[in-house]
Amino acid sequence: EKGGYEHFMQKEMYEQPKAVTDTLNPRLKGSRIEIEELGMTDEEIRAVRKIFIVACGSAYHTGVTAKYVFEGLARIPVEVDLASEFRYRDPILEEGTLVIIVSQSGETADSLAALREAKARGCRVLGIVNVVGSSIAREADNVMYTWAGPEIAVATTKAYSTQLIAEYLLALKFAHVRGRINDEELAGYIRDLQLLPQQIEMLLNNKEKIQKFANRYIAAKDVFFIGRGIDYAISLEGSLKLKEISYIHSEAYAAGELKHGTISLIEEGTLVAAVLTQEDLYKKMISNMVEVKTRGAFILAVTNADNVEVEKSADYVIYIPKNNKYFTNSLAVIPLQLFGYYVAIGKGCDVDKPRNLAKSVTVE
Ligand code: M6R
Repeated sequence: EKGGYEHFMQKEMYEQPKAVTDTLNPRLKGSRIEIEELGMTDEEIRAVRKIFIVACGSAYHTGVTAKYVFEGLARIPVEVDLASEFRYRDPILEEGTLVIIVSQSGETADSLAALREAKARGCRVLGIVNVVGSSIAREADNVMYTWAGPEIAVATTKAYSTQLIAEYLLALKFAHVRGRINDEELAGYIRDLQLLPQQIEMLLNNKEKIQKFANRYIAAKDVFFIGRGIDYAISLEGSLKLKEISYIHSEAYAAGELKHGTISLIEEGTLVAAVLTQEDLYKKMISNMVEVKTRGAFILAVTNADNVEVEKSADYVIYIPKNNKYFTNSLAVIPLQLFGYYVAIGKGCDVDKPRNLAKSVTVE
């Protein structure tokens, strides 16, 4: 059932090019995006004044990414909330608020409760869900399925990647309908999205380099992930992937926050994974990298293929192929998943079933 792979997590990582294609293609009609299941007219899309994205864990991390994409492309204010917080904090849900609940299983207790709360308060609720017919899929006003197929490993990989795709599609659709991007620009974004499956495949095929590197870190005590903007969102995911399966303590920080406390934790040899895919933030990131390096950190950088400059300040560099600045999380996540996976394997951990964790968290 693992199809020749050693672990479900490994199999599921390798299924990502297909999962992304399967989630993308049904919504592309030539150079346009059609999301019938959204059930919203153009007029209704134009009437949205605010979006809440509510989820848990990695699904929440895709919401953090989506905030940057939605706000950047469609200029709609987005709040991202952990479902366990949203449900008890009496959120301000005014008219024109769209609530998006993101969930692989469609059964996460807090996400389901948040959905019910939003509905009771009169909001339109869209589910982005992987498991067909699950509770969240049934109770949402509309559901956009991610077509990742069954995900068995506790650590999500392919469902995460397809959630990002669903969110990019929505952001582009909203941006186009609301006149923020024209037909030509939309066609360009679609071409960039269509490059993702083969680019993901390329990164998966380069696994040896990461495996070798990961083997050096199986005894690490703490690992820090840093990034700015959309790269902060991927740092959150990279950190969770590592800690949930390898039990190594890790934290993600917006790189500009380092000097507000975290930098005191950096010691000789501490691993810092720095993600820098946003050209306008390269310089700022490099200076953050230099700051930790002078305190003894060892720096793994994940950056765009053309940013060779980074080799001056990083100790080890993983390049991702060039794509649109809004979609780089889909690529940067691959080496981070592989890193978590190989560190965990190197330590002899049960990667598919890490201790204390359940695949779907159906209790509060
Ligand atoms: O099924 P859901 O997407 O609602 O699950 C949410 C989280 O429990 C889940 O993403 C969790 O954080 C994963 N183990 C992360 O790999």
